[in-house]
Amino acid sequence: MQDRYAVIGNPIEHSKSPLIHAAFARQTGENLTYDKILGDLEQFEREVARFFQQGGRGLNVTLPFKERAWRLANSLSEQAQRAKAVNTLIAMPDGTLRGENTDGIGLIRDLTKNHNRLLSGCRILLLGAGGAARGIIGPLLAQGPERLLLANRTPSKAQDLARQLSGQGPVEWSGLEDLEGQQFDLIINSTAAGINAEIPAVPDGILAPGGWVYDLMYAREPTAFVIWGRSQNAFKSLDGLGMLVEQAAESFSLWRGVRPETAPVIAMLSSA
Ligand code: ATR
Repeated sequence: MQDRYAVIGNPIEHSKSPLIHAAFARQTGENLTYDKILGDLEQFEREVARFFQQGGRGLNVTLPFKERAWRLANSLSEQAQRAKAVNTLIAMPDGTLRGENTDGIGLIRDLTKNHNRLLSGCRILLLGAGGAARGIIGPLLAQGPERLLLANRTPSKAQDLARQLSGQGPVEWSGLEDLEGQQFDLIINSTAAGINAEIPAVPDGILAPGGWVYDLMYAREPTAFVIWGRSQNAFKSLDGLGMLVEQAAESFSLWRGVRPETAPVIAMLSSA
């Protein structure tokens, strides 16, 4: 029988994960199936339990369930523990569920491996202070940036998050209007503004010459933030497609012990 995997989220119909994992399985010769499950907002924990009772080997978890997956996992990787969010569940041989978070490593790999962007000494601005920001702060700090500033529409939320994560390294915080006159080499958008084709209200001129812009969001058309990055003359203005494929590759290798090549899969999705 083929090993069963799936992604669970709500909504889920537009998820690219089944396509990505099918491509990884073909490429590596791994014998598995990967479906999508529309998670029930009330019954999420029961659905997860049922999936694994029926022999499922692993789940990807997406919005809005990452924190609930973090709560239900029996054991956690260090990164999942810090992120307080789980995007990958693994059925362990003893019947327990292990929670991992591969989002941060996915972003770092996309920037450093796919785009050769070193982050050490880099002045990084991270916009947003929700779950998506929380998951990437530790991995960003591990790269040794010159500074990491967390800026949010509601400044107190940035302050809370910076305080909670202060043990992982120096994290500054501010509101969006306080950014006026500052300069950053990399600006990352982790806000939910893009869902409504909006961008956070940041001042112009905060991207240093040769600076990069990265939107965690991915869409078929260039996102509003990618377009903003272009308007600021970013050296590169990237969306989250590379991160999406890289986090999937990390999950795949945790489950299967084989690391797939990501470049052909990113190319396939970009041209689709
Ligand atoms: P997620 O888990 O995806 O990060 P979240 O916890 O709801 O989602 O956080 C959403 C983030 O996007 C928050 O930082 C939010 O700012 P506030 O804390 O001020 O609400 C930010 N956000 C959403 N819409 C925004 C907009 N139009 N402009 C700026 N920031 C926005």
